[in-house]
Amino acid sequence: MILAPSILSVNFLHLKKTVEIINSSEADWIHLDIMDGVFVPNLSFGFPVLKDLAKAITKPMDAHLMIVEPQKFINDFRDLGVYMLTVQYEACTHLHRTIYAIKDAGMKAGVALNPHSPIEFLQDVLDDLDMALIMSVNPGFGGQKFIPNSIDKVRRLRALIEKRNLKTLIQVDGGINLETGKLMTDAGADVLVAGNAIFNAKNPLEMIRQMKQ
Ligand code: DX5
Ligand code: ZN
Repeated sequence: MILAPSILSVNFLHLKKTVEIINSSEADWIHLDIMDGVFVPNLSFGFPVLKDLAKAITKPMDAHLMIVEPQKFINDFRDLGVYMLTVQYEACTHLHRTIYAIKDAGMKAGVALNPHSPIEFLQDVLDDLDMALIMSVNPGFGGQKFIPNSIDKVRRLRALIEKRNLKTLIQVDGGINLETGKLMTDAGADVLVAGNAIFNAKNPLEMIRQMKQ
């Protein structure tokens, strides 16, 4: 199981401390939520912040783009040193082209599905994907309530991946804590994203350790 803490719900005045916690923890990746106020009704952070963050972070960067026209920024994320670049299915008119542009830039390619998008939308690109992200909340904000239907989506996607003998990772994002995280890994998820559960815990380092177990 891969754990990717999301920094969306941290105190940004203490970003250095957050990075140190993640660097010294058992977390596998760092999850970076990029929002544009168009695809989702919120803004997060952009390149000025990401550039400094990238210099300090020692874990692979997992960037989740909740923006329209994500293809415009592929090279910028490559230059930052991003490992996994995930775009939203609903934001891409030419998804296959975007997936290959990400791969050609030397990154791993992920596609995220909003809660209303069926897993069948990935049927014809699944073989090209390094990761599929099942959103378990409507993207835009940290600290939202987990949508239970996403458990079954993970189960069905896992079956499809196994049937085709693929290595595509399944990531889940939104409302993940010790309890929902367990439900999701039991259903077949490989990568857990958690923001609120980790950074609003009394001891984030200890929560990361517990989630990894
Ligand atoms: C939501 C983001 C998530 C968010 C998760 O739009 O994609 O990554 O940070 O936060 P929690 O774990 O608090 O639901
Ligand atoms: Zn995310």
